[in-house]
Amino acid sequence: MIRPIKLEDVSVCAKILKEAYSREPYQEEFTGDNAEKYLLAKYSSCGDSSFVIEENSEVIAFILLSISFWGKGKQAIIEEIVVNPEFQKKGFGKQLMEYSIKYFNSLGVNSVMLWVKNNERLLNFYKKNNFFVADDFVVMFRNQ
Ligand SMILES: CC(C)(COP(=O)(O)OP(=O)(O)OC[C@H]1O[C@@H](n2cnc3c(N)ncnc32)[C@H](O)[C@@H]1OP(=O)(O)O)[C@@H](O)C(=O)NCCC(=O)NCCS
Repeated sequence: MIRPIKLEDVSVCAKILKEAYSREPYQEEFTGDNAEKYLLAKYSSCGDSSFVIEENSEVIAFILLSISFWGKGKQAIIEEIVVNPEFQKKGFGKQLMEYSIKYFNSLGVNSVMLWVKNNERLLNFYKKNNFFVADDFVVMFRNQ
């Protein structure tokens, strides 16, 4: 069942995020309560337009969306999408994506943007959901 996210979901979503990003291709360690802080900050801006999947009363996946304006219309950003690793590759990511696309259509959103690790499997997930790599944009980082 897909339903809107609630503040009480944030801590379980943080656990899912921590576990999912500790694996390939990220191997990212979230120390202390950084995962929860990260999601709380996102929740404060995306909480009204984000969703979780619940299976047997357990949250197993979530998607955080922000809706804004750009140029002549509305633009959405997929800020985060994570499926509990135990439930990956079973179509739950696709379900969240399809639900979000319908939600965007209902709002009259005309473009959707996200950033993603340059990894074949991840790119394939998005390509299967009709995203394409924008060759005129790159993500830039600076280490501090
Ligand atoms: C990316 C993610 C959301 C996909 O969700 P999912 O439920 O696993 O994906 P689905 O089952 O809907 O789609 C499966 C497709 O995604 C890709 N994919 C997802 N997991 C994969 C895996 N472990 N190995 C290979 N391909 C995989 C494949 O293209 C696969 O298609 P196939 O089943 O025809 O081979 C999920 O893997 C995840 O949470 N990853 C960690 C967090 C992350 O990277 N988020 C995106 C940040 S931009």
